[in-house]
Amino acid sequence: MNGHTDILAIETSCDETAAAVVRDGREVLSNIIYTQISMHTVYGGVVPELASRKHIEKIDQVISAALREADIPLKDLDAIAVTYGPGLVGALLVGTAEGKALAWASGKPLIGVNHIEGHISANYIEHPDLEPPYLGLVVSGGHTHLIVVKDYAEFEILGRTVDDAAGEAFDKVARAIGLGYPGGPKIDAAAKNGNADAIRFPRAKVNGSEYDFSFSGLKSAVLNYLNHAEMTHEEINPADLAASFQKAVVDVLTDHTVRAAREYGFHKVAMAGGVSSNSALREAMRKACEEAGMKLYVPSAIYCTDNAAMIGVAAYHEFMRGTRSGWDLNARPALRLGER
Ligand code: KG4
Ligand code: ZN
Repeated sequence: MNGHTDILAIETSCDETAAAVVRDGREVLSNIIYTQISMHTVYGGVVPELASRKHIEKIDQVISAALREADIPLKDLDAIAVTYGPGLVGALLVGTAEGKALAWASGKPLIGVNHIEGHISANYIEHPDLEPPYLGLVVSGGHTHLIVVKDYAEFEILGRTVDDAAGEAFDKVARAIGLGYPGGPKIDAAAKNGNADAIRFPRAKVNGSEYDFSFSGLKSAVLNYLNHAEMTHEEINPADLAASFQKAVVDVLTDHTVRAAREYGFHKVAMAGGVSSNSALREAMRKACEEAGMKLYVPSAIYCTDNAAMIGVAAYHEFMRGTRSGWDLNARPALRLGER
C-alpha cells in the first residue's frame, strides 16, 4: 500500500505467541515473541491445553505490539498471514481464528503458512544472497527434514525422521539426565565441559532410505547407559554424557546433509529450526561445508526458534505466487511440507 508489500504474520503453533510485520519478504519491521517456556518448564514439557489458553490471553497484545513497533496501521497492510500447521491443534486454532478475524475485519487477503516452510524461510532475512535452489535442513522440536528447496515455495523432501525429531531427542535425554526443559540449550551448555568421545553412542542408519533419520535408538542407548550405571553404582559424568550424545546427533545430521548436497550438486546449504542454534552443530556443519566447498547459511538464534518473522517471509513468497486462503482455513496439526 506504500510501494512495499507489508505482511502481518501470526505464529501460535507450539509454545511461542508471536507476531511480526515483514516488508518485501526480507525486511523485519517488528518481531514480537511471547515465549511460554517458563510456564511449561514446571511440567517438564509443553502442556497443550495451557499453551492454547496462554495464546488466547496474549495474542491481541502481541499483535498490537507488532503493528505499533512497525508503525503500520492494520489498514495499510497488504496481507495477513498465519501458521495453520503443523503443530498443536488447540494452539494453531487460536492463531488461525485470529488471522481470519483480522483479515475479515480489515478486508485484507489471508495467507495460511506451513510452519516448516516458515523455518526454511528464516534464512532469507539475514542472507540476501541466498536464493533457491539449495539444500535445506530443518531441525526443530517437532521436525527433522532434509529438503531440496527448488524454489521459494517448492520443495522435495529427501529425508525425514522415522521416529523422534532431533530436538525431541535433546529434550528427552536432557530430562533423563535431570537437566530440565527445554533440553537443547541445557545439553548444549553442559556439553561444553564434557568429552564428546567419552561414550560411544550409535549413529543410526535407516535401512533402505539413506537420507532418513532415526533418533529413538540413540535415546534408548542413553537410557540404557544410565540404567547400567545406576545398577552398577557407577558415577556418571553428565557433561561427558551430554557431549557424547550431542556428538552422535551432530555427526548424523552433518553427514546426511553434506552427502545429499554433494549427490545433488548443491554448493549452498541452509540450516534452520530450534536445534540449528546448537553450537556444536553449527561448528561441525560449518567445518564440513567448508571442507566440501559449500556455503552454509544459518539464521541468528532469534530466527531459529519459533517466531512470526519467518512466517511473514514465507507468506510473502506465497503471496507473490498467488496463494490465498479462504474463510474455511482450519488448523492442520499434521500438515506436510508442500501440501495445502
Ligand atoms: O523450532 P523450535 O523453536 O520449535 C519447533 O518448531 O519445534 O524448536 C524447539 C526445539 C526444542 O526441542 C529445543 O530443545 C531445541 O529446539 N533447541 C536446541 C537448542 N536450542 C533449542 N537443541 C539443541 N541445542 C540448542 N542450543
Ligand atoms: Zn518450529
